[in-house]
Amino acid sequence: MLSENAKKDIQAALRKYPNRRSAVMDALRIAQADGGGSLTKGAMEEVAQILDMRPAEVNAAAAFYTMYNVKKPVGRYYIQVCRNISCSLLGAEHLIKHMEKTLGIKTGETTKDSKFTITTVECLGSCGTAPMMQINDDFHENLTTEKIDGILKSLK
Ligand code: FES
Repeated sequence: MLSENAKKDIQAALRKYPNRRSAVMDALRIAQADGGGSLTKGAMEEVAQILDMRPAEVNAAAAFYTMYNVKKPVGRYYIQVCRNISCSLLGAEHLIKHMEKTLGIKTGETTKDSKFTITTVECLGSCGTAPMMQINDDFHENLTTEKIDGILKSLK
């Protein structure tokens, strides 16, 4: 169920768009943040109701884009490691293995305490600072294993 704040934020977002349907991506972003990083079926149904859309249309939009987590809940810190060409050439696979070992999970999994989820993604548009990853809304660039250790330590 969406919080009152999320509903207010969605109503405010509606003013930026020419029609209610056009706000679907923004509304899903707000709903996902409200849900702690994941979109539930109930939240998407509420978004559909607010936007005068069918739930299946909202679900289809959410399922299409990788930035929405609809299939399963993710950890508080959602780690998306770029594995595209620039990042791969500069060691992304090694960094992913290091992070998996450090957190005790495989890519696609969430730690038992629900704090961290690791996933891999395609280019995040920061090739000049590869290798890089995104944790929630923040980019972390020019990564090394030492830098990753510091980042993870600061989040624990
Ligand atoms: S290849 Fe990693 S950000 Fe572009």
